[in-house]
Amino acid sequence: MKYWKQMWSACVLFPLVACGGGNQSNAQTEQASVGTDSVNQVVETILARRSVRKYKPQPVEREKMQTIVECGVNAPNAMNRQPWEIRVVDNPDFINGVTELYKKEQPKAAEDPNFKNMFRNAPTVVFVGRDVQSGSAEFDCGLLSENMMLAAQSMGIGSCCLGSPAAFMRSPAAAEYLKQLGFSEGYELLYCIAFGYPDEAPAAKPRDLTKIKFVE
Ligand SMILES: Cc1cc2nc3c(=O)[nH]c(=O)nc-3n(C[C@H](O)[C@H](O)[C@H](O)COP(=O)(O)O)c2cc1C
Repeated sequence: MKYWKQMWSACVLFPLVACGGGNQSNAQTEQASVGTDSVNQVVETILARRSVRKYKPQPVEREKMQTIVECGVNAPNAMNRQPWEIRVVDNPDFINGVTELYKKEQPKAAEDPNFKNMFRNAPTVVFVGRDVQSGSAEFDCGLLSENMMLAAQSMGIGSCCLGSPAAFMRSPAAAEYLKQLGFSEGYELLYCIAFGYPDEAPAAKPRDLTKIKFVE
């Protein structure tokens, strides 16, 4: 299947591209290639990913989520300690239930006519927990998450990294839902990621390429 080929590329080649990609002159629009006329699928996938905040209602198939999460845990991480735990939720009772609590605290959010749930309207949410004792967990979890989002992109699945909803999940108001995630002792929820089939195609936000310098 085509996406398996892209998935392999996303998982195996991404680190190479990430190290060498700083000389893209127009990161948002240029069709990417690496020294030849052939299109590089990994670079294309990276440049095409955008945060999606409108989704089709159906959850992502669990088989595909399994692949996405396995790409996540194959991310580089300090000393291979894997200081993360991942929880995948596609149960509407969970998502809508905690959203009802969220709406009580943030009533304005639900006034948006596109509002479906507190996870930027996604039908599938991945919650990432970090080992609180690990000094590298935030880096490691960041790499884990980008792997997941790029793998999803390569499969036609949209995503959005979410900090604010995770803050609500950590608040006393959402305690019963946080408990249901069942993170191990010593782990805390760091953030969550929305996944689903996109119902919008956002334009790229500009990136400041002057922040990149080659040092002679
Ligand atoms: C750590 C982190 C937290 C974020 N939290 C939120 C959030 O709470 N809500 C949201 O809509 N987007 C959130 N985002 C998505 C960013 O707004 C988005 O990545 C950024 O604007 C760049 O846009 P792009 O992803 O489309 O390239 C978060 C991204 C990161 C990396």
